Amino acid sequence: MELTEIAEIEIDTLLDAIRRRYDYDFSNYARSSLKRRINGLLIKEKLEMPYQLIPRILYDEEVFNRFLSELSVTVTEMYRDPEFFRNLVESIFPVLNTYPYFKIWHAGCATGEEAYSLAVLLKEAGLLDRAKIYATDYNNKSIDIAKQGIYSAENVEVSNKGYLKAGGMHRFSDYYTNHYDAIKFNDELRNAITFAYHNLVKDGVFGEMNLIICRNVFIYFDSELQNYVLNLFNESAISKGFLCLGNKETIRFSILKDKFATLSEGNSIYRKKD
Ligand SMILES: C[S@@+](CC[C@H](N)C(=O)[O-])C[C@H]1O[C@@H](n2cnc3c(N)ncnc32)[C@H](O)[C@@H]1O
Repeated sequence: MELTEIAEIEIDTLLDAIRRRYDYDFSNYARSSLKRRINGLLIKEKLEMPYQLIPRILYDEEVFNRFLSELSVTVTEMYRDPEFFRNLVESIFPVLNTYPYFKIWHAGCATGEEAYSLAVLLKEAGLLDRAKIYATDYNNKSIDIAKQGIYSAENVEVSNKGYLKAGGMHRFSDYYTNHYDAIKFNDELRNAITFAYHNLVKDGVFGEMNLIICRNVFIYFDSELQNYVLNLFNESAISKGFLCLGNKETIRFSILKDKFATLSEGNSIYRKKD
């Protein structure tokens, strides 16, 4: 047997140990990126082979937390892909406006920037009062940051540009206060979003959603897990509800593709069929 095949067995054994010990199942994460992350952790832990991680992770929860941080790439930003947000405002907001009350689920929201970006635009469209926004992630550290709504002021220029490109009509600075080198979103926005833990691999549906946004998460999943999660979204969305994935993600090759109409392939915006 080749050494690379043996390393695969080590990785499978490591993932099995993690599933049984911590109830996190990574077996259907895209293998190549999973391997890169495990290698990253091996370097940080000064280890050489995946099997050496098994006792460390089994007996030390902190090492598992470091594994989770390595794996959950929480890279995000305000108005990531501004044209996507513009598309939301122009084509989805008018439909949301026809409902007296509507629900939005941001799955895999990381540290929350995307959810605040949307809340600001809903506020400007006069829709925030009617929106119930849930934003979830399986990384509790990210969720804690999101709940606080405090971000480094370093990126505020980029955020402001994104806000304007997305169709922002006022000043981005109207929505936060400055605290030394940080910004803090206003209470109205923070109170409009419910941040919570939710693991797409094992947790249940969020019922009756008008809009589900799950961007830049599917890239980490293999096709089986993508199909599984799409099914979860299909069950969570109301009839004619919207589904938005990341710009590099599509439902085109999924077994659920016929359940959704494509509104924008470039921005990966779909609408559940009747
Ligand atoms: C690259 S970030 C994307 C953040 C944001 N949606 C965006 O597009 O900027 C990917 C997020 O997916 C989350 N994630 C990965 N697997 C998950 C799972 N099984 N359940 C919930 N969240 C998950 C990670 O913790 C991370 O915060």
